[in-house]
Amino acid sequence: MQLRWSHAGVLVRDMENMLDFYTGVLGFKITDRGPFPGPGGGEIVFLSQVDTDHHQLAFVDEHRDDSPPNSVHHFAFRVNTLDEVKEMDARLAADDRIGNRLPLTHGNAWSIYFDDPEGNTLEIFCDTPWHAAQPQADLWDIGKSNDEVAAETRRAFEGNPAFKPIEDYYESFAEKLQNG
Ligand SMILES: [Fe+2]
Repeated sequence: MQLRWSHAGVLVRDMENMLDFYTGVLGFKITDRGPFPGPGGGEIVFLSQVDTDHHQLAFVDEHRDDSPPNSVHHFAFRVNTLDEVKEMDARLAADDRIGNRLPLTHGNAWSIYFDDPEGNTLEIFCDTPWHAAQPQADLWDIGKSNDEVAAETRRAFEGNPAFKPIEDYYESFAEKLQNG
């Protein structure tokens, strides 16, 4: 198993100012945005400028105090297969330093979120065969077979307005990037 860097979730104070900088100056595209599906009630905005990742950054509008810019929400690593996600979950389950282990699917990913020994949130995920408009977050049952997991995820997300094979999504995003 190899953990490949994918994206960071970052807590931001002024969403529009950050988006203006990241899109206008750094050249990112906004790939999705919506209410953050968790406590706090903020917004989450996804940014990418590569046709291999739905997002390289996810800004969460929940940095609301004057604390220093210790703003990382989570670090995310991609693995190749659902079996590897399950293998990692078993390793984490056996380690009593790990907190808040939570299997979530975003429709386009099967993820485990967990806190490292100092409370930093990590996400380890593999891609699903599909794209779905974000944000999305459903629990998935890590005890089920890969076929059952895939069937349940498909059922849960096929009504999503952007639901399509992941290859189609990245093909059209690659065109959008080329056309500026
Ligand atoms: Fe993530």
